[in-house]
Amino acid sequence: MKRIVVLFALTFVCFAAVSQDEKNYTVLANQIKAQVSPTMYGIFFEDINMAADGGVYAELVKNRSFEFNTPLAGWQQQQKNGGAGKIRVVNRNDERPENPHIIKVNVTSPVGYFGLSNEGFRGMGIKKGETYSFSVMARKPLKSNTTIVVELHSAKGQVIGKAQLTPLATSWQKYNIKFVASATESKASLFVWLKGKGAIDLDMVSLFPGHTWKNRPGGLRADLVQKLADLKPGFLRFPGGCIVEGRDLANRYQWKKSIGDIDKRENIVNRWNTEFGHRLTPDYYQTFGLGFMEYFLTAEDIGATPLPILNCGMACQFNTGQLVAMDKLDPYVQDALDLIEFANGGLDTKWGKLRAGLGHPKPFNLKMLGVGNEQWGEQYIERWKIFTKAIKDKYPDIKIISSVGPFAGGKEFDLLNKTFRELNADILDEHYYNGPKWFLENAKRYDKYDRKGPKIFAGEYAAQSVTTGSPDNKNTLECALAEAAFMTGLERNADVVTMASYAPLFAHVDAWQWTPDLIWFDNLRSYGTPNYYVQQLFSLNKGTDVVPLLEGAEMVSGKDGCYATACLDKNKKELIVKFVNSGAKSQSVVFNIEGMDIKSKATVTSLGHTDKTVVNSLDKPRAISPVDSTLTVNGKAVKLTVEPYTFKVIKLKSI
Ligand code: AHR
Repeated sequence: MKRIVVLFALTFVCFAAVSQDEKNYTVLANQIKAQVSPTMYGIFFEDINMAADGGVYAELVKNRSFEFNTPLAGWQQQQKNGGAGKIRVVNRNDERPENPHIIKVNVTSPVGYFGLSNEGFRGMGIKKGETYSFSVMARKPLKSNTTIVVELHSAKGQVIGKAQLTPLATSWQKYNIKFVASATESKASLFVWLKGKGAIDLDMVSLFPGHTWKNRPGGLRADLVQKLADLKPGFLRFPGGCIVEGRDLANRYQWKKSIGDIDKRENIVNRWNTEFGHRLTPDYYQTFGLGFMEYFLTAEDIGATPLPILNCGMACQFNTGQLVAMDKLDPYVQDALDLIEFANGGLDTKWGKLRAGLGHPKPFNLKMLGVGNEQWGEQYIERWKIFTKAIKDKYPDIKIISSVGPFAGGKEFDLLNKTFRELNADILDEHYYNGPKWFLENAKRYDKYDRKGPKIFAGEYAAQSVTTGSPDNKNTLECALAEAAFMTGLERNADVVTMASYAPLFAHVDAWQWTPDLIWFDNLRSYGTPNYYVQQLFSLNKGTDVVPLLEGAEMVSGKDGCYATACLDKNKKELIVKFVNSGAKSQSVVFNIEGMDIKSKATVTSLGHTDKTVVNSLDKPRAISPVDSTLTVNGKAVKLTVEPYTFKVIKLKSI
């Protein structure tokens, strides 16, 4: 009897603990608080971590036009079976200043093979059965007997693809040949053999897979662009990031040099090449094969609004901070005006006509533009005023994105925030790379922002598991959940925050400079981090209108590690609840839905794990990934348990 009483008492205590712990929330589904901007969750693209060359730009040959400071970097002289010869780099700067280097190869032996091999970007990713397209610019004297034999070698030296072509012209001509690879290899190299006595000049030695994004020749890596498309992004910000600014002004991104024939796009060193002493990447350059036309096309392909960011006459203030004198700013401003014309202008305009000539007569419908990347100080304000006046005078509908500096607060932020609000700026670009704790503690950041002031673009953010710039930062679940918690605050304040993007986007596992990053890849594979899935869950479930989700009269933003927000998707007739349990304790929650009748079947998508330090990897790409389930709802009370370290998206259909 005594045992039964104790058992009963224990059962009661347990029951009491659960019901006492149960969290009751109210969702006021018929009280619209804000509209969610269609551009809300987007993509920040920068050529950092070999994101473009060596990454999404599918070119497999590194230093294809011999323009690195060491012109034969990435190349190695080769000979076999008695082959012999000489390779010279020639500078034709007077004739072609934008593409000055070519190589002259003189084959001196009538037998064997002589030539050079290219190591690719930490090797070349080659797939069995895939067609590869080799191309080269070549010319040779009439009496030269030299022919080109192309081979793909596996890391062990086996030939896994081969082709031959014979250039005949004495003036520069592009030659192309396709062949199929016989094996899959992530660290292949390309051998360009020159066979037969004589001389030959070469430039733009290139190898692309046949299968690229939309199968565009010389295009982008399909698997990586697919990952972007799968985010259904509202916008695509390009080309960065600090790459816009350059370490000095000569190193800045100049969009006009990034369009047209690829052999006329001037190569420059990538600013991330030497940025971090502990992650030096001396072989990191920009070919601009992924240039502004490709950015606009990609944005269009994936349904994202294009968002170019332009240099405003200032080099990166973390580096030289070089400034263009105020009376020399005109060409920079003109670049901005011309870009708008390039994107939107009719066929009767100079730049619109050029766009049409590049294959896109239809305008790209550019609506916004960033003036400067992560600038700060009075010099920025001075330059910003000139840009803004010129742009607004000619294109009053274009929204200007303005930097409020690299940090979420402090002297520089305060000055820009105050000044740009006084000047009625359109959209302020805030950046924050902080620890997960900061993100959890700042989920209410926008609750008190002026509702009538400029809109906010959370233009670059990512939770840093160690500290900003640390090579030990990891894309942990803990960081992803902190971002999700913070993003409930973005969504709740959708009337103020109209755009947000995680940064940086891509990283090559063997060639990165900055971590954490949203998507990691090697030469053949790629994976989305837990942070990627957080971005995706918000983006795919952004809804159309925010409605209140309350605990009593309070927002759900941090108490007991819980964060939540709710929105309607008017088009799909859905109520979407997002709930983050950032703590180690399971949470029993009840959402009481008012102002809407809901169907009894709900869907729940969960992203979580009992271990918050878990990361995804190339070998375990979906260790942390969304899992779908269904939930039966009784009446208007939606009850569920949210496990520790878990983000859930609950979708309820209206009757
Ligand atoms: O995302 C990496 C860098 O962080 C960006 O280039 C810059 O804008 C910021 O400082």
